[in-house]
Amino acid sequence: MKNIKRYVFLGVALLFAGLWVAGLTLNPGNPRERHTGTILSAEGDLLLRRACFDCHSNETEYPWFSRLPLSSLLIAKHVKKGRRELNFSHWDRKNEKKRARALRGVARLIRKGKMPPKDYALINPKANLTEEEQALLVHEAERLGGPPPNGDPDSMKKADDTGTDD
Ligand code: HEC
Repeated sequence: MKNIKRYVFLGVALLFAGLWVAGLTLNPGNPRERHTGTILSAEGDLLLRRACFDCHSNETEYPWFSRLPLSSLLIAKHVKKGRRELNFSHWDRKNEKKRARALRGVARLIRKGKMPPKDYALINPKANLTEEEQALLVHEAERLGGPPPNGDPDSMKKADDTGTDD
């Protein structure tokens, strides 16, 4: 009986060690490329930085629990996926058309309350946007990206998917 307990304990310890190492190795870190110019206005950019940059730029501020088993894996996945969809650090690479399309996506998702993701905003209160802040971002993104086709943000999903970051 004593031996079984020992093996179970060892097994659990090994599992956690494995998850821990996996999390540390899979962490996408912060690639060097940055965008130094403006995206929206100075005020809008501050909001993007606060609420969106952790997943949509190479300037992710990793929280302390990004080093813990399991949460590290979840965070790595979010950041990789978010960057793949839209990476503001790649703004210089985008032509006018791609920028406009990305901004229409920004306006659409903020309007719908889908970005920043709710679970993330719960853990990171800095990402919570007030209604005024949301309105400012939507207004600026639509001013620069153009309004959604036929004025209906929901009709855009298929016609104008922002797709992957390129
Ligand atoms: C916690 C990470 C995280 C944060 C913070 C975040 N996003 Fe996202 N975002 C994602 C992920 C992951 C996706 C990929 C689609 C999905 O899984 O929902 C995505 C997708 C997107 C897309 C493309 C989706 C599409 O269908 O066209 C846009 C645009 C976007 N986010 C804008 C924003 C904006 C604007 C903010 C800040 C207000 C923001 N995101 C904050 C993780 C994040």
